[in-house]
This record gives sequence, structure tokens and C-alpha cells, in this order.
Amino acid sequence: MTLKESFVKIGIHDLEVATSHYVLDLDTLAERHDIDPKKFSIGLGQDTFSMPAPDEDIVTMAAEAAHTLLERHDASKIRQVLFATESSIDQSKAAGVYLHELLGLPANVRSVELKQACYSGTAALQMAVNAIARNPEEQVLVITSDVARYALDSGGEPTQGAGSVAMLISADPNLIEIEPGSGLHTTDVNDFWRPNDSTTPFVDGQLSLDAYLGATTAAWDDLLARRELGLEDIHRFLHHQPFTKMARKQLAALAEHTGTELSDDLIEESMSYNRALGNTYTASLYFALTAQLHNNSDLAGKRLGFFSYGSGAVAEFFTGVVQDNYQDHIYPQHVAKQLDNRVALTYDEYRELHSDFAATSETFTTTKTTNAPFRLSGVTEHQRRYEAQ
Ligand code: HMG
Repeated sequence: MTLKESFVKIGIHDLEVATSHYVLDLDTLAERHDIDPKKFSIGLGQDTFSMPAPDEDIVTMAAEAAHTLLERHDASKIRQVLFATESSIDQSKAAGVYLHELLGLPANVRSVELKQACYSGTAALQMAVNAIARNPEEQVLVITSDVARYALDSGGEPTQGAGSVAMLISADPNLIEIEPGSGLHTTDVNDFWRPNDSTTPFVDGQLSLDAYLGATTAAWDDLLARRELGLEDIHRFLHHQPFTKMARKQLAALAEHTGTELSDDLIEESMSYNRALGNTYTASLYFALTAQLHNNSDLAGKRLGFFSYGSGAVAEFFTGVVQDNYQDHIYPQHVAKQLDNRVALTYDEYRELHSDFAATSETFTTTKTTNAPFRLSGVTEHQRRYEAQ
């Protein structure tokens, strides 16, 4: 057997998603802020955003997504839990350790948390793929989970959101083979950051748009320098979508950069979930993937191009090939249920919920609100308490 033949296909075997209890309609925000609603629906490409109840956070959403996922699999094969987030609930203990307990995973598992703004889910995915290349019989649970919470009355307010995508990474995957060879780009830029003493980020809006476009274009160029690949080899593009219009802006920038015509048809099917969820930071790119798989029945054998971006800034462009029987392994009804079950907030309820958010380790008990299978019951002795329900 040659070295090449000995490589197994590795990638995303299965995935599941979760979002939060509440939703705010952006028309409500537009009306109360005296803004033309089309600025949000067309200008940003957003309709609604998810918002957590006080007894929800990144762990409860991730646990719900992973729990649904693992009902279909043998969890004893999982050797790592890689939890990517920028809405961390502790400066020391990994969110994945809480998740590990809630899911009842075996003790012989490595659990860590990863951070680099919206990018770290992709780092987790690539680390998982590399680990399985060494141990093809093992599996890795990759979690992306975030709450995008901007200051009230700030420019970023309409782009808030919440959600989680849990992915099982394995050899011989059912959904996507992740191909070797990425384009990478890191540059130190202060476009968006959240210091330890702030519950909301600082944002330079225009700089963030420029940084996103510059870094993703540079990642594309880096890929071209390393792989024989052209735009014509990519069937559909997927993007980190802080708001869905950003994917259109990036495709237009790529078209200009490469001197190629690129139709919005290349991205249209990837936006439906993010339009409804808002920014889900690390999970956003993987909600785009989920939407693409659910909205297009003709992807078997086709190559997808993934643009991952995290402010600060790191970008990666990588590719994956959709597997032949992917349609036997997708569950669009689960996403529909997550979106449809959300409870609509009035504007006043939204403002109150936003203002009441407490990043404290002082003792508190939450009122039971969420119907999700896991909830945050409160904090005692400075320790977060979660429960199944
Ligand atoms: P803004 O000042 O509220 O909006 O900020 P605007 O005035 O730039 O308008 C937005 C768009 O709406 C424009 O379209 C307007 O023309 C259009 P564009 O010219 O850009 O194509 N518009 C209308 N369209 C139709 N009908 C109307 C109308 N009025 C205006 N009546 C901004 C927008 C994105 C800056 C703000 O929302 C913000 O600061 N967001 C947060 C930062 C962000 O999302 N940046 C994106 C790139 S960085 C990133 O993706 C990383 C991130 O996810 C964090 C991480 O990595 O951790 C954010």
C-alpha cells in the first residue's frame, strides 16, 4: 500500500444544533428605534435573533445539541471534547468539562476549551481531523457554542444571537470529508474584542468589515499557493455570517480580487438559519453548513469551500467534499423545531432581560424558564450548577 492509499477519509460524521428559549423580531427593534426595518432585513440580511433565558448559557445549548447527536452514536468511541467558544463562563475550567458530566461521557476523555473569537470552532475541527489521522478508530466531539451579546443601543445590537452546533468528527464520515490543505491568515487588529471586565464587546464596525474581507481574501490566496485549486472547483461557499449580508460582501470582494464573476447562487442556500438566529460566533459557519446541507438535495460528491473568520484576527479557508448518502443523515426537522419553539419577546421584555444579565459568581437561583433538556439552576459557593430536566 502506498502512503497515499493509507490515508482514510476524515471529517464531519454527524451534527446537531440547538438555540435558546427566546427570540426577538428585528421589526420590533426597528420600530422602537425608529429605523426602517429594511435596514435589518435587507441591509444586514437578518430577520430575528435568539436570546437565552436566565437559566440558559453556552453549556446548556451545547449539551442539548450534543445530547441529540449522541443518541445516534456510541459515545465510548469519543476520546476528546473540544469546546470552542468566546462566551466563556469561567477563566479556568473548560465548559466542555461541565458538558462531559451532563452527557455522562466516559472519564477516559480529553476535554479542553478553545478561544479565538468566531474562528476557534474551525481550529477545533482541524485538531480533531489531525487527531483521527493518527487514531482512525477514535472519534472527537467538537462543540461550537456562543451567545453574541452587544451593548443596548449599539451598532452591533441587531446582530446579537445565540446557538450551538455539535459535530462528531470521525474516519469514514457520513456528511463531509475535510480535505487536507488550508489557507491561513493571522494579523493583529483591534476590530472587535472583549476584555475580562466587560460583558459586551468593543467594536470598530467599519474596521471589522475591512478586517474580515482582508483576512479571508488573504486566506484564499494562501490556499492557492499551496493547492492546485480554482474557484471553478468549489460548488458552494460557506461563510462565518455575523449577519448574512457579510457573506454577500465577501463573495463580491473575492470576485473583485480574482477578477471572476461569482453569483450569489453560490451562497444563497447557506443563509436561512443564520438569518433567524443572529450571530452565533463560533457556530455561525457550521449553521451555514447545516443550512446548505438541508436546503440542497444535489450536493453528493460536490466540494464546499469554508471561509472561517474570527476578529482579532484569524481566518482560514478550507474545503470539504459532501458524501454520497448525506441525505440519509440530516435532520432539518430538528432545526425547524428549535427555531419554531422559541418564545417571542416584546421590546420591553427584551430590554429587561438584556439589562438583568449578571456575570457574577455570587449565589443566585434562576427561575425555571427553558424547556430544554438541560438548564443552569444557579450558582452556589461560586460554582455553576446545571441540571437535567
Ligand atoms: P450600522 O452603522 O448600523 O449600519 O453598522 P450601516 O449604516 O453600515 O448599514 C448597514 C447596511 O444596511 C448598509 O449596507 C446600508 O446601506 C444598509 P451596505 O452598504 O453595507 O451593503 N441600509 C439599508 N438597506 C435597505 N434599506 C434601508 C437601509 N438603511 C441602511 N432603509 C455594522 C453595521 C455591521 C458595522 C454593525 O452592525 C456592527 O458593528 N456589527 C458588529 C460587528 C460585525 O458584525 N462585524 C462584521 C465583521 S467582523 C466578524 O464577523 C467577527 C464577529 O463575528 C466577532 C468575532 O469574530 O468574534 C463580529
